[in-house]
Formats: sequence, C-alpha cells, structure tokens
Amino acid sequence: MEANEYSKTWILVVAARPNFMKVAPLIKAINAFNATNGNRIKPLLVHTGQHYDINMSDNFFKDLELPEPDIYLGVGSGSHGEQTGKILIEFEKVLFREKPDLVIVVGDVNSTLACALAAVKLHIPVAHVEAGLRSFDRRMPEEVNRMLTDAVSDHLFTPSPDGDENLAREGIPKEKIHLVGDIMIDSLLFNLEKAKKTDILKRLGLPLQSHPTALITHHPLPITPYGLLTLHRPSNVDDRNSFLKIMKGLREVAARIPVIFPVHPRTMKQIKAFEMENGFVFHETPDVKPEEYFRDNILVDKIHCFEPFGYLDFLNLMAHAKIVFTDSGGIQEETTVLNVPCITLRDTTERPITLTEGTNVLVHDDPEKIIRTANDAIDGRRKQGRCPDIWDGQTAGRIVTILTETGK
Ligand code: UD1
Repeated sequence: MEANEYSKTWILVVAARPNFMKVAPLIKAINAFNATNGNRIKPLLVHTGQHYDINMSDNFFKDLELPEPDIYLGVGSGSHGEQTGKILIEFEKVLFREKPDLVIVVGDVNSTLACALAAVKLHIPVAHVEAGLRSFDRRMPEEVNRMLTDAVSDHLFTPSPDGDENLAREGIPKEKIHLVGDIMIDSLLFNLEKAKKTDILKRLGLPLQSHPTALITHHPLPITPYGLLTLHRPSNVDDRNSFLKIMKGLREVAARIPVIFPVHPRTMKQIKAFEMENGFVFHETPDVKPEEYFRDNILVDKIHCFEPFGYLDFLNLMAHAKIVFTDSGGIQEETTVLNVPCITLRDTTERPITLTEGTNVLVHDDPEKIIRTANDAIDGRRKQGRCPDIWDGQTAGRIVTILTETGK
C-alpha cells in the first residue's frame, strides 16, 4: 500500500444533539491514527438530519470543531416508525454507494438503530459506541434502540462494567465486548478550559463565587448559586400531570436560586399546549436582559427560559452550577465528572454508575423529593462522588486501536 492511500472507509453516523460530542473525539482519534500510519482510514461523516435546527445541530459542529458532514440525509422529525423507516431507506442508499468497511453508531437515538440495522442487513460490520446501557424500562424509546442496536452490532464499546454485565446476560459473546470508558467525557475534558472562557455567565447575569469541590482540577472552581435545568423526555413533558408535578417542585427551588432553563423544542411545544407559560420567564436570547429580572445586576430567583445553548456555553453553565436538574442521560455522566450535584427527574437510569460512584440522585417527578434534595445541595449537604475508572478522555483512542487491530 502506498502512503496517503486510504485502505478502509468508515462511516460515522450523527443524528441528534447527544451524538455530536460522541463522534467528535472519534474523528480526532482517526485523524491521529492516519497521521502516524499514513492515511489508512477514510472517515465519512453522515448526518441523518434527525435534529436540524441551528440550536440543536449546527452550533455543535462549530463548538466541537466537527467537519461538515460528507453526506446529509435530511430526514427531519416524524413518528417513531416514520422517522426510523426514512433513515433506514436513505442510509441504505448511502451504503450501496459508498460500500464502507465499517459503520460506527453512537448512543441510543432512532438513527442509531436505523443505521445499524441497514448496515447489518448488508453484512457491513457495525460498531456501537456506548453499548450495554439499560434502564430496564421498555417504554423509553431509547431502551428499545439500545437493546436492538446491541443485538446486531459486531463491536460493542461499553462505558462502564454494568454495560458488560448487561450484554453478557443478553448472550452477547465476550469477544465482541470492550470496556473503553465514556466517550462523552473525551469531549468534556478536551473542551472544558475553552468552555470556561465563554462569557455566558456574564451574559446571564450570574456572578462567580468560590466552589470548593472540583474533582477534575483538584483546584477550587468558582461557582454562583444557580440551578441549571434540562427537561425533554416524553414521559415527563408529554404527560401534563408529570410536567406539573416537576414544575411544582422546581418553582419552590426557584424561590431560593435562579434556575436557568434552556428549553428543548419538544418541551416548548408542550408548555404552549398545556398553557403552562405562567410559571416561566422567557428570554429571547441569552443576551436579552430585561431590567425587571435583575436585582443589583444579578438574575432574580425564577425559572428563566432560553433557547437551547451550544456545547461550550452549556458546559460552562454546568461546571459552575450549584445544582443541575435533568432527565437527560449524558448530563448525569457529565455532572458526575464535574462533581456537580445532579438531580435526575426520572425513576430509572441506564447509567447506574452515576448513582453508585457519582453525584446523581433519582427523584422522578416527586415535588417533595425535588425540593428536599435541592435544599440539601443548596445548603451544602450534597452528595459527594468520584470519577469512574477510565473516564479519562482516552476512550476514542482505545476504540480506534481496537478496531484497527481487529482489521476492520
Ligand atoms: C431525541 C432522542 C433522544 C435524545 C433527544 C435529545 C430518539 C428516540 N430520541 O429526542 O434520545 O435524548 O433527541 O434532544 O431518537 N425538533 C425541532 N428541531 C430539531 C429537532 C426536533 O424543532 O432540530 C422538534 C420536532 O418538532 C420534534 C420534537 O422536537 O417533533 C422532538 O424531536 P425528536 O427528534 O422526535 O425527539 P427528541 O425529543 O429530540
């Protein structure tokens, strides 16, 4: 083989917001491999278009320095069957045309399953990054996506030992399973210093105070007493009763500290549909600062809604928050590494290591638990945690080493 000649084509799939920070480190690791081995792997980035807004997609490419997608499928939103079906049809065409040697899918969104399925039917090897996670709740669309993607994948890369145990229990042969650590943490550690330099706190009127407990840096991180909230699971926001219960708890918290709420498009639709606008303050952009919401240049104690933030701004807000409320999966992991208390508005998690080793607490939609756990964190009686093993920023490198050694 001549130098600079590509010998293998690997397709990497991105689709929705939580995918971008998982694929960015893989592209970096492939480029690093090519730099030392002569261009041996041609990475082809395919964006299915499951998320398509500037705030849900484009801004992440900028923040994470992801290359433009080589192929954009533009499938957009739809019901589960419709969206998954469209992706399957469009991605299969890509596979016929490009004839890749490997397809890499990440996480648990509809595109993860659709692209894995299209590939396996054409006998193209599939690598699943973030394999083995289980909430044991099949009402979650992601749980079905996780189980089926794992069942058809050839290489299963797990973030934590519970993933290996789940896969073994489901009969996946041991030689397919590789414990490599958490790929999201590669992006977090790579971008943290850059993220801390964004001016989002200033723009939101959130001054810094001293924060004694940063795990990563082992140095005091400044903090300001605000809460950060994300909420988008159908089980929370499509169900009026659950949504109201969660907001009842959060409103009490927001009487003590300002709560910053970047609102997911699904959630915004539901706030309007349920006519719940009264409980929130809506800001058009992070730069808009209506005087009435500031006291001595500090944001007042209310739930302040914004458009979704980019990766770096959100990481900055997370790193400095007194407390994070979420129903996201990835944020449970990121807060564990940042050693920020995480109150998870769900009754299960597919990331149990964030409970046993990290800062995570499950409170579901119970207002009393939300208030009690939040008050504990605000008053300093917070849960301490440790960073799980091999969540060290080297996960993508491990994956590329394993895949190149197995000759894919
Ligand atoms: C999807 C993933 C979920 C992930 C979440 C992160 C599945 C089954 N779910 O859920 O695992 O945690 O992304 O955000 O794959 N919309 C926009 N702009 C966009 C994208 C969506 O306005 O760029 C609107 C659409 O009208 C859509 C709604 O938001 O109906 C929900 O989007 P969808 O992609 O169906 O699911 P998510 O709730 O985002």
